[in-house]
Amino acid sequence: MKLGRLNHIGVATPSIADSVAFYRDVMGATKIHEPFDLPDQGVKVCFVDTPGADGAMNGTQVELIEPLPGNTSIAAFLDKNPAGGQHHVCYEVPDIHAAKAEFEAMGKRVLGEPRIGAHGTLIFFVHPKDMQGVLTEIMEVSVNAH
Ligand code: CO
Repeated sequence: MKLGRLNHIGVATPSIADSVAFYRDVMGATKIHEPFDLPDQGVKVCFVDTPGADGAMNGTQVELIEPLPGNTSIAAFLDKNPAGGQHHVCYEVPDIHAAKAEFEAMGKRVLGEPRIGAHGTLIFFVHPKDMQGVLTEIMEVSVNAH
């Protein structure tokens, strides 16, 4: 495995609307994307951009995640953390299937098959108990994406 760019930090929230106001008014975010539903994963998602090292808005994103009705995993997280909180981190890889094979060869529990994530590219999650306590998302990004 070769550590890739930190694409985003997933933050669970009971209200994307409230969190958007927080990132805009308290944190000074200037680029906040339109929220959208990911029905397959039972969540509403909203990306907040941060600047990259060159000042362009191409840095790591914050992924706000609000459960849709019927969602269990994010709803359970919010039961334990009613104000919301950090949920996962996401690193980029050039080849999702190669990354999955590498994690599995190291005995890490990959949660399900690669599937389309919030950016429209293939992702998978690795079990936090195999990842120093951090739920870790691995995301395929073409080398020309940044
Ligand atoms: Co994510």
